[in-house]
Amino acid sequence: MSNNHLGVITQGSLSTGLEMKLSNDKSVEDIRVGKFVVIEGKKNRFFSMITDLSLSSSNQKILLDPPRNDDFISEILYGSGTFATVNIQPMLMLEKNKQSNQEELKPVKTLPSHFSSVFEASEDDFKIVFGSEDDKNEDKKMFYIGQPLDMNIPVCIDLNKFVERSNGIFGKSGTGKSFLTRLILSGIIHKEAAVNLIFDMHNEYGWQARSENKGEFTVKGLKQLFNNKVEVFTLDKESTQRRGITHSHELFISMDQIEIEDIALLKHELNLSEASIESAIALKEREGKDWLKHFLNMTNEDIEEFVSTGKGHIGALRSLQRKLQRIESLKYVKIFCS
Ligand SMILES: Nc1ncnc2c1ncn2[C@@H]1O[C@H](COP(=O)(O)OP(=O)(O)OP(=O)(O)O)[C@@H](O)[C@H]1O
Ligand SMILES: [Mg+2]
Repeated sequence: MSNNHLGVITQGSLSTGLEMKLSNDKSVEDIRVGKFVVIEGKKNRFFSMITDLSLSSSNQKILLDPPRNDDFISEILYGSGTFATVNIQPMLMLEKNKQSNQEELKPVKTLPSHFSSVFEASEDDFKIVFGSEDDKNEDKKMFYIGQPLDMNIPVCIDLNKFVERSNGIFGKSGTGKSFLTRLILSGIIHKEAAVNLIFDMHNEYGWQARSENKGEFTVKGLKQLFNNKVEVFTLDKESTQRRGITHSHELFISMDQIEIEDIALLKHELNLSEASIESAIALKEREGKDWLKHFLNMTNEDIEEFVSTGKGHIGALRSLQRKLQRIESLKYVKIFCS
């Protein structure tokens, strides 16, 4: 048996995953959660991930009187009396196509039988599942994004397939979401798989970002990596220049571009009532495109005069005007004269 043999499947289900009894010659401390393994069923192979580890014993009596500091006894018990159980979640099924004799990737719809052997996933298994950058198929744009845990094997994604659908990168805080996003964006730009419109709210992708691991060590942003292919637009030129970006375009929002729908989106943040929105709609009907500019300049008498025509609500309009006044102070909101 090859030395990457890890154990055999003992029980489990499709919904909760499978249990493997770890081989006697393997130490539980060498097995990590997140590792990729392959279960060799009789008809199919199952590309799977280790999701949990537990320590079990065949006889409760051993646990009542455990050996203390006795490696010899512990070794004798390990495997038969005590053993490690590994939880494995099958992710994909590698089904052999009888005609081409090639393995095809299928969703997992069945299970390997009892006592199927489990092996560490090999480089070839990773190539079947994730592809390889050497793949010369013109429909594919394979891009190397990293290596699996404890393995020196490249993991790729097909960027053409990636950009076809909606994607999300999720993880606990500090696990590398922004790093991975920057890497994938770099791949998309480098391989020209798609055009990206990036809302870089925390200035993480445009210019350099600081790496937490190595103090002041910085990583290059997209503008530094792909100068001619990346344009940076900013709402705050001074701050952008302070961070070292010399060629950026300043972005302004003209006040006549602000629609009622935009204000309605801020309903909760600005604590706006339904009456405010309805009054604004009535005001826009009268004032037209420049409604916001006129509204912010309206005096109390102007508002009263407007309400006297039977439209809108005076209290709601006054409150809305107070709340929207802060828009005027935003550096990037301008009044352009037509
Ligand atoms: N692939 C990687 N190579 C080297 N270092 C990395 C990698 N991914 C993440 N790091 C390190 O981990 C730190 C946190 O990564 P990152 O900022 O991407 O996490 P995050 O999940 O976006 O965090 P947050 O939830 O706080 O936004 C980085 O500053 C960097 O030091
Ligand atoms: Mg982040």
